[in-house]
Amino acid sequence: MKALLRGLWGRADPVLSLASPREAAALAALHASSFNRGWSEHEFEQLLVDRNVVADRAADGRSTIGFILSRRAADEAEILSVAVARSRRGRGVARRLLDLHLRRLAGLGLRAVFLEVDENNEPARRLYARAGFHEVGRRGGYYGQSAGRPTAALILRRDLV
Ligand SMILES: CC(C)(COP(=O)(O)OP(=O)(O)OC[C@H]1O[C@@H](n2cnc3c(N)ncnc32)[C@H](O)[C@@H]1OP(=O)(O)O)[C@@H](O)C(=O)NCCC(=O)NCCS
Repeated sequence: MKALLRGLWGRADPVLSLASPREAAALAALHASSFNRGWSEHEFEQLLVDRNVVADRAADGRSTIGFILSRRAADEAEILSVAVARSRRGRGVARRLLDLHLRRLAGLGLRAVFLEVDENNEPARRLYARAGFHEVGRRGGYYGQSAGRPTAALILRRDLV
């Protein structure tokens, strides 16, 4: 039935769920295809068994098409990474993942979330702005650029209470 719906109206909505260490290889592959410096499967395994790490994934059938990872410290969290498969971008997958993730972090009693984003990363900046993040700091020349000048890292914050 799901395959039929996909055929008629395009892909069905992805299923969102907690990510487990079993997904380390899939998350590493998605990360590697989304960032200049990929994290290894082993690095993802270490993160996904860490009790202070909260990880959500978006799946289409058995395929992982997106993820978001945070690390908790006291009553705050830092978003470590978020990525969506190239072929699935621009359809609200990250917006839904981030929304679920923020609700999960709030449910754990956390009070605020921080992250760093490249000032030139327009899709990510729009994603975070829509979710209520605001700029609280800036590190100039933080990200190297293959062409042109290095760009700044913006430090964003979102209160959860
Ligand atoms: C950032 C990323 C996760 C967004 O995923 P996505 O599923 O495409 O995002 P959504 O479809 O939920 O859209 C989020 C916002 O980005 C905008 N957007 C999506 N693709 C865009 C593009 N190519 N250019 C400009 N804006 C774009 C959307 O319009 C939306 O903004 P809006 O709500 O104001 O309309 C995805 O682009 C990605 O994986 N990038 C590589 C990894 C990365 O940079 N991660 C963030 C590091 S901080």
